[in-house]
Amino acid sequence: MKKFPDNFKFGVATSAYQIEGAWNEDGKGESVWDNQCHTFPEKIADRTNGDIACDSYHKMDEDILNLKRLGVHFYRFSIAWTRIYPTGLPNVINQKGIDYYNLLIDKLIANNIEPLVTIYHWDLPQKLQEIGGWTNPIMADYFVSYARICFKSFGDRVKKWITINEPYQISEYGYSYPLFAPFYKFTGIGCYLAGHNVLLAHGKAYRMYEKEFKSKQGGKVGIVNEVAWTQTETGKKEDEEAAIRYRQMYFGWFVHPIFSKAGDYPPIMRERIDRLSKEQGFDYSRLPKFTPEEVEMLHGSSDFLGFNHYNTYLVKSEPYGQRPSVQHDRGVKNYVDESWIPTSAYDFRVTPWGLKNVLKWIKEEYGNPEVMVLENGYAGFANDPIEDFARIDFMKGYIGAVLDAILEGCNVTAYTVWSFMDNFEWSSGYSCRFGLFHVDFNDPKRKRTPKRSAYYYQNLIKTKMVTDIKPESFDHNL
Ligand code: NOJ
Repeated sequence: MKKFPDNFKFGVATSAYQIEGAWNEDGKGESVWDNQCHTFPEKIADRTNGDIACDSYHKMDEDILNLKRLGVHFYRFSIAWTRIYPTGLPNVINQKGIDYYNLLIDKLIANNIEPLVTIYHWDLPQKLQEIGGWTNPIMADYFVSYARICFKSFGDRVKKWITINEPYQISEYGYSYPLFAPFYKFTGIGCYLAGHNVLLAHGKAYRMYEKEFKSKQGGKVGIVNEVAWTQTETGKKEDEEAAIRYRQMYFGWFVHPIFSKAGDYPPIMRERIDRLSKEQGFDYSRLPKFTPEEVEMLHGSSDFLGFNHYNTYLVKSEPYGQRPSVQHDRGVKNYVDESWIPTSAYDFRVTPWGLKNVLKWIKEEYGNPEVMVLENGYAGFANDPIEDFARIDFMKGYIGAVLDAILEGCNVTAYTVWSFMDNFEWSSGYSCRFGLFHVDFNDPKRKRTPKRSAYYYQNLIKTKMVTDIKPESFDHNL
């Protein structure tokens, strides 16, 4: 039976806005998600919000007990910027916010669970949004200030940091194709401005850690991007090229500047957007340019290559999307095969081979760096059952794909289930259930119940093997 290496780590993930609740307690400031959900409830499929969510802010002990029952090696969670700096800026520090995360980190460590901390998971302070959010270049420096207080307050115990989660989604879905807060629509423009500043924010924070904390704290700092696998139906040369172009102008947009040999944006992205901008009557490129110093700063600014993975697309080389837009700039039509098993989220379908292909492609493209899969999971429907065999099948397929990739030489060191428990799935509200634990959102106590997949994951972590066993219950009770 094939086995994961002994030092391979398994974890689960969440993010602050999606689970904490307590949106205005103990001095927390307003974030863009608080603001948008309250002002425009119609933007959320079921008109819900994260005001209470899983109430994890008040249920720390129960959550830690459940993590312990799972037997995870690490817990990936995020810090809410507005709990630390309520307005986003350093002149007002909220000690209660710092206390909360200190306690969480201490309790995790006391229970032998490594904290893996995301500094920014989409909940920008509303005050900063009002001055343009990520389209304002000053955001990079503001982020560095916020990251510094995180390193300073928690870095003696936190040794793995993620600066920013999913820059593509922040930029494209926040500022061009309005799916996520702040729901700006400025296609082909907003996304590149935001993306540029997100990259600079990450790079500056990485270099700040290197200079001010690394020798004392010795932690690793990285960034996490989402990557979809792309494949063609036709096998035609122009479609195969489109599959690569799509990856380069999606994942490569944020990874090439950091992990490629040359640094900077992928050449194909630079060339196409410069050319199309000109043809469209712009007298500058819609894709901003890094200075040589910035290229240098970003190059190598991540101690591991972290990614989230959820789906595969079929692609065709074809004029696509409105002008200007990321879709049109790519010139790639993306779609799915209707025979692939659907889930409740977006165009996520169950295609486990995509994860193996992604891992093999990353190995070739970026010279086999240390890779961590930092999110992957099955989106059940609102009535996702406790007997969630569909999720177990998903896990067998995807975790098995990671194991196969390792056996073929990919340097993968961690795998993370999204999500620890059902939570607020952004504009889909509570209609998408990703959890290993079911959460009853009608119960004021937000009762958690392990699904079958929780037992399956516990067994997998313990044996380091992907088996057909479907355990009936946890094999120990704490
Ligand atoms: C990625 C995001 O980081 C996370 O917040 C989200 O819930 C999952 N994808 C599922 O869509």
